[in-house]
Amino acid sequence: MEAVVPKLASFNLLNPKSKSKSAIRRFSSALCVSSSPSVTSTDSVSLGHITRPDFPILHQEVYGSKKLVYLDNAATSQKPIAVLKALQNYYEAYNSNVHRGIHFLSAKATDEYELARKKVAAFINASDSGEIVFTKNATEAINLVAYSWGLSNLKSGDEVILTVAEHHSAIVPWQLVAQKTGANLKFLNLNDDESPDLDKLKEMLSRKTKLVVIHHISNMLASILPIEEIVHWSHDVGAKVLVDACQSVPHMVVDVQGLDADFLVASSHKALDSYLVRVISCLPCLHF
Ligand SMILES: Cc1ncc(COP(=O)(O)O)c(C=O)c1O
Repeated sequence: MEAVVPKLASFNLLNPKSKSKSAIRRFSSALCVSSSPSVTSTDSVSLGHITRPDFPILHQEVYGSKKLVYLDNAATSQKPIAVLKALQNYYEAYNSNVHRGIHFLSAKATDEYELARKKVAAFINASDSGEIVFTKNATEAINLVAYSWGLSNLKSGDEVILTVAEHHSAIVPWQLVAQKTGANLKFLNLNDDESPDLDKLKEMLSRKTKLVVIHHISNMLASILPIEEIVHWSHDVGAKVLVDACQSVPHMVVDVQGLDADFLVASSHKALDSYLVRVISCLPCLHF
């Protein structure tokens, strides 16, 4: 059967002209965002109206007197007041070394750090918080997998399959590791609808395949890939799967146990979180 790849819903679905105010309110309460006190039932309401008050950085005018509009959330998201307050509280109340001190502040910082790990594990349904590895960003997380698992497990003749639509940070580490190990990179092309050709992927998978590197939602194409199936096909030939979930974790429910991937990376800085615990990577089922 031909694999069908859906695309991320258009933002028009949230357009106030096409959706009722109550639908938008339901959506915002599902997101747990606060409603602007200035929004009344007669105002025109949009997701922007509802969430804007939570983002101090948006309360400025640029280029003369134009309200700042920020659309580059796929690169990094702005931080809501709750996150900024948590950062300020950290510096005012318990700034100190994590896991490297026995005094009061260090113990408190360590407890909070480990609590964050547990919250992330619950957020993506990891079975154990020990599966969560904090890194500086997703790029560093992919490099960590490449230079640890990759260098010690890949050898000449092995194959790593990537799609041509991967982010640069998911391609370059494997090019460098391939040069060092002699492994071959195989690139999966796109269909006419500009989604990765999953039927071709099934043909490319073989016992030589040791790793599949694939995005969950593409930052370029908006395609949402059926990761569970891809993992199933890959595991059938003994290959591991690294999922780039940078654009899915902020936008949809991601269940890492359901996906069953071997490595999954995501960026908390693209999901309203701070630059302090900048990016979170999860390495479920890590078998070195
Ligand atoms: C799909 C995807 N993968 C990886 C990255 C790199 O993420 P980071 O900035 O956390 O290194 C990005 C950043 O835009 C991305 O969109």
